[in-house]
Amino acid sequence: MLSEKLEKALNEQIKKEINSAYLYLSMATYFDSEGLKGFANWMKKQANEELGHAMKLYDYVYERGGEVELQAIEKPKCKWDSPLAAFEDAKNHEKFITDSIHKLFELAMEEKDYATMSMLEWFIDEQVEEEAQTEEIVSKIKALLSTPNGMYLLDKELGQR
Ligand SMILES: [Fe+2]
Ligand SMILES: [Fe+2]
Repeated sequence: MLSEKLEKALNEQIKKEINSAYLYLSMATYFDSEGLKGFANWMKKQANEELGHAMKLYDYVYERGGEVELQAIEKPKCKWDSPLAAFEDAKNHEKFITDSIHKLFELAMEEKDYATMSMLEWFIDEQVEEEAQTEEIVSKIKALLSTPNGMYLLDKELGQR
C-alpha cells in the first residue's frame, strides 16, 4: 500500500506529465502555425510520450492500491519568438521535471518504499535521455541558424521522428 504522502506526490507527478504533454502540444501549434511541420511533428510525438509517462504512473498508483485524482492543468504558454526559444523552454522544462522526479525518489527513500524507488528508476533514466535530446536540438538549431537552408533541413530531420 502506498503511503498517503507518496500517493499525493505521485498524483502531483501525473499532473506534471500531463502538463508536459499540454506544453509540447502547444509548442506543436506554434510550429504548425509557422509552417514548420517537422518541428510540429516532433512535438506531437513528445506530447504523446508525456501522456505515456502519466499513464505509467496512473497504472502504478492503482497497482499499489492507491487512487488517482486528476488535478487541474494550467493553460500553457502558446507563443514563442523563435524555434530556438521554444526548444530552450522545452529543455528547461525537462530539467524541472528531472528535479521533480528526483524529489519523488527522495520521498520514496524516506518512506522506505522500495517498489516505488524501483519504478522511479525508469523515470530517472528516461529524464537523462529527454534532457540530452532537447539539448541536442538546441545545439543543432544554434549551429544551423546561420547556414542557408539550415532550418529547412532540421525541419525535415525532425519530421522523421
Ligand atoms: Fe515525462
Ligand atoms: Fe519529458
